[in-house]
Amino acid sequence: MKAVSIYSHGGPEVLCYEEIPRPRHKAGEVLVRVHAAGVNPIDWKIREGQLHTLLHHTFPLVLGWDVSGVVEKVGPDTKRLRIGDEVFSKPDITRDGAYAEFIVIKESEVALKPVSIDHVHAAALPLAGLTAWQALFETAGLEAGQRILIHAAAGGVGNIAVQLAKWKGAHVIGTSSAKNHDFLRRLGVDQVVDHETERFETVVAPVDVVLDTIGGDTQTRSLKVLKPGASLSRSSTRLPPSSRPPTRCGRASFSPSQTPASWRNSPV
Ligand SMILES: NC(=O)c1ccc[n+]([C@@H]2O[C@H](COP(=O)([O-])OP(=O)(O)OC[C@H]3O[C@@H](n4cnc5c(N)ncnc54)[C@H](OP(=O)(O)O)[C@@H]3O)[C@@H](O)[C@H]2O)c1
Repeated sequence: MKAVSIYSHGGPEVLCYEEIPRPRHKAGEVLVRVHAAGVNPIDWKIREGQLHTLLHHTFPLVLGWDVSGVVEKVGPDTKRLRIGDEVFSKPDITRDGAYAEFIVIKESEVALKPVSIDHVHAAALPLAGLTAWQALFETAGLEAGQRILIHAAAGGVGNIAVQLAKWKGAHVIGTSSAKNHDFLRRLGVDQVVDHETERFETVVAPVDVVLDTIGGDTQTRSLKVLKPGASLSRSSTRLPPSSRPPTRCGRASFSPSQTPASWRNSPV
């Protein structure tokens, strides 16, 4: 099958578009034909080696941990899924990802794709959606009627967090640059703050929850807008940029013109 692998850490030039063996599924796993793969910040952070001490990947490694596709084969003891099911998933991040024609995933990590969205939109949902859900409801315990400040509200995690918080019945304040203000208002944000021209701590009244995917100074200043006993929910994996020099992969190098159409159209 075709896949995009890396054989070393480094910049985009270490991505190798190549032919590799189709992965084999075991008991409790399914083989999924990839229709769309989402691209997230964690992909380039892993590619650069920023999370190596945490995840201990070995090479070659296929990136991409957001996927939508169709079940091609099922293992002997799979219970819920059948061949031909349309599914989406955030696969195990310690294993090979979805920049490939096929991926093996544990059945427990796969859900049926909603019929109302296509594969490209479905592949944008699992990682950012789970992050937003866990931050809002499992970490912060957001409830109806509470006030929440969502930083980077137009970003991948932020825009889903906005929609979940509005669905819950919260009063939502979102930060973004001016180009995204209309987008945030269309999503239902009650107060939009321009992080490039305003100090949010001077214009936002006390809140019950802050969702911070930015970190650093934004996190420190966020403490000033929290009510006593309120929650700061952090979902940032931001780290300093790698100082490692780029490594050549030495194989057929990857270029956008070689990318399958379904990947070029995948959400970023
Ligand atoms: N995507 C995921 O599934 C996921 C999961 C777990 C953790 N994370 C982590 O969460 C962080 C954000 O990820 P993402 O996917 O949401 O990124 P993203 O889609 O690239 O969005 C980032 C947004 O940050 C905004 N921004 C930049 N500087 C800002 C500031 N000072 N104040 C407020 N907003 C600012 C920008 O919005 P404007 O253009 O409006 O300025 C940009 O759209 C990353 O560190 C990522 O590793 C992401």
